[in-house]
Amino acid sequence: MDYIKIFSPATVANVSCGFDTLGFAIANLGDEMTFVKTPTKRVDITEITGAELPYDINSNAAGVVVQKMLKDAKADFGIQITMHKGFFPGSGLGSSAASSAGAAFGVNKLLGNKFSDLELVKYAMLGEEVACNSKVADNVAAAIYGGFVLVRSYNPLDIVKLPTPKKLRLVAIHPQIQIRTEDARKVLPDQINLKDAITQWANVGGLIAGLYTKDYKLIGNSLEDIIVEPHRKKLIPHFNKVKNAALNAGALGAGISGSGPTIFALCESDEIAENVSVAIEKSYRNVGMDFEIYSSKINRKGIKILHSY
Ligand code: HSE
Repeated sequence: MDYIKIFSPATVANVSCGFDTLGFAIANLGDEMTFVKTPTKRVDITEITGAELPYDINSNAAGVVVQKMLKDAKADFGIQITMHKGFFPGSGLGSSAASSAGAAFGVNKLLGNKFSDLELVKYAMLGEEVACNSKVADNVAAAIYGGFVLVRSYNPLDIVKLPTPKKLRLVAIHPQIQIRTEDARKVLPDQINLKDAITQWANVGGLIAGLYTKDYKLIGNSLEDIIVEPHRKKLIPHFNKVKNAALNAGALGAGISGSGPTIFALCESDEIAENVSVAIEKSYRNVGMDFEIYSSKINRKGIKILHSY
């Protein structure tokens, strides 16, 4: 293969209770990227549209991932990359993860599938480190594996792909402000108390059990975050108002997508998702801030090949 064009999905990390350990991929939101083999052993980013990101391959998440993979594979070719961002960095929807995971996936195809999915997550985490200053796996694993994922362990890295109940729908609102993941991590405490930890890990177990048994009520009851959300919601204008609007309109649960400011809600049907979308829109209409609303199915397959030769 000499050329590949891919779609790399946006993702919701944490899923309320699972800070740094849970994530899922979004069906209809993401980036397009192309990768072309070149005879010179260079990595170049030739075009970036949709966001202002560095062309310097040592500062760009995708550039870093591609260089490391070509080096480790002792490749005798170079790669030209184009990136077309479908959503904004600093949204909490895994923008750097879409670039990093997309880069790992695309290069692996040009290398003849040399690396496993787990190895691709490890490479993509290098991009997350460049973009967010933390080597988190929740967004990139969701983009690469598709559906819901659990990062069961970071050392050694262990990713568990979880089931995605068919009726689940996502509604999300992105208030048009930027929150850098690095900053949103600084507001978190170093230590938590045991009682809170018990509540939180019980919810993680409940959410996973709910996904396996398609128990939507259990999924909803488990979408609770008493450790991270209380600190981060202060960074998101009108968070409580939006969350309450979503719950009152029938959402199973709602919380902060990744490090915010996007607020996500999970719903049990298209009809409820539509009601939630209307309610969220209403709750933000007069607050004097631009926003974008997304409604989507869950992406079950992860990164998709759009074209190759
Ligand atoms: N789990 C990470 C966080 C995701 O919440 O900081 C951000 O990319």
